Amino acid sequence: MGEYPAYDDAVYDSFDVRDERFAAYQQAIAGSVAGKVVVDIGTGRDALWAVAAARAGARHVYAVERQPDAADQARRAVAGLGDRVTIIEGSSTAIGLPSPAQVCISEIVGNIASAEGAVAVLNDARRRLCTTDCVWIPFRIQTWAAAVQLPDSARVLDPASLPYVERVFAAAGAPFDLRLCLGGPGASLRVSSAAVVESLVFDHRRSLPDENAVATTRLTVDVASARLTGLLLWSRIAVTPAAGRPEIDTLAGGTRGWAPVYVPLSTDGLPVRHGDHLALTFSRTTSDDRVHPDYHVAVRTGDADESLTWSSPHHGSGFRESELHRHLFPGGDAGPDSLAI
Ligand SMILES: C[S@@+](CC[C@H](N)C(=O)[O-])C[C@H]1O[C@@H](n2cnc3c(N)ncnc32)[C@H](O)[C@@H]1O
Repeated sequence: MGEYPAYDDAVYDSFDVRDERFAAYQQAIAGSVAGKVVVDIGTGRDALWAVAAARAGARHVYAVERQPDAADQARRAVAGLGDRVTIIEGSSTAIGLPSPAQVCISEIVGNIASAEGAVAVLNDARRRLCTTDCVWIPFRIQTWAAAVQLPDSARVLDPASLPYVERVFAAAGAPFDLRLCLGGPGASLRVSSAAVVESLVFDHRRSLPDENAVATTRLTVDVASARLTGLLLWSRIAVTPAAGRPEIDTLAGGTRGWAPVYVPLSTDGLPVRHGDHLALTFSRTTSDDRVHPDYHVAVRTGDADESLTWSSPHHGSGFRESELHRHLFPGGDAGPDSLAI
């Protein structure tokens, strides 16, 4: 949902909890902002990081929020901090700052790390909004992949997700085969080793991360036998580069801020055995909105002629084209009004 303007109070409530994500950001902010000009990209309803930065002694905080209702509420959230925080309504890619930021804070990390547009948005911030030696919070975001066997009993849509599905379809202009996450951590479904498929470092001493990229890697089946139905993709976040600071592994369940994306590859499941190798190709291509990526995944077992594939455009694909989407969204006419199940 983070890829679309679909946040509501329930979602913002889930960010404002004292979990692993909150603690890591608070610690990183407290250690970096004293006396500095700070930009907080995507400050959200509660301006959590902007408030933390002001309290930690930032000289000035520019807090940017693209959702107008959230920007309005963020203004109220910072009212007690005098004039040290300015809320700017709009997308960070469309605004300018009176003075460049020395610290850039953001939490636009997707369930697939780059899915909320972090590469395009933070590259743009680096070019236009920040000093050349800016400190980046977070420092590195990654996407990891592993093969899974999803039981049939897990192929159920949580009814609580339907209002968000409607909003995503409205934002995209039409229903489409949107990405699906597993409710709760999915680590117990793994049947293979895990591998990194994207690793994005935000650091002024390094070149900008590429908006379009292809990664190839290998997964090894590490259970006696299984039926491979798909992959899980999940994020890991290193909020600062400081040694000894734990990374947030979103599959581990220490925060409700993310959920693993399920990549359906085979409805019946491909039989695999311990030691089998799976060649995995993961591609990221910026969509025509120039911010949010489209993804393509291909998986091939050692002896197979053809790959199992998954294409997931940010918007604009057909609706009920995949077997999983037909199963989860039964109904006749495609259209948001026919979604009630
Ligand atoms: C995951 S929420 C994070 C909110 C808050 N910073 C936190 O970490 O709890 C992401 C927020 O960023 C906003 N957002 C995403 N991309 C943005 C952009 N390029 N410019 C401004 N706001 C953006 C969204 O509307 C949403 O409120």
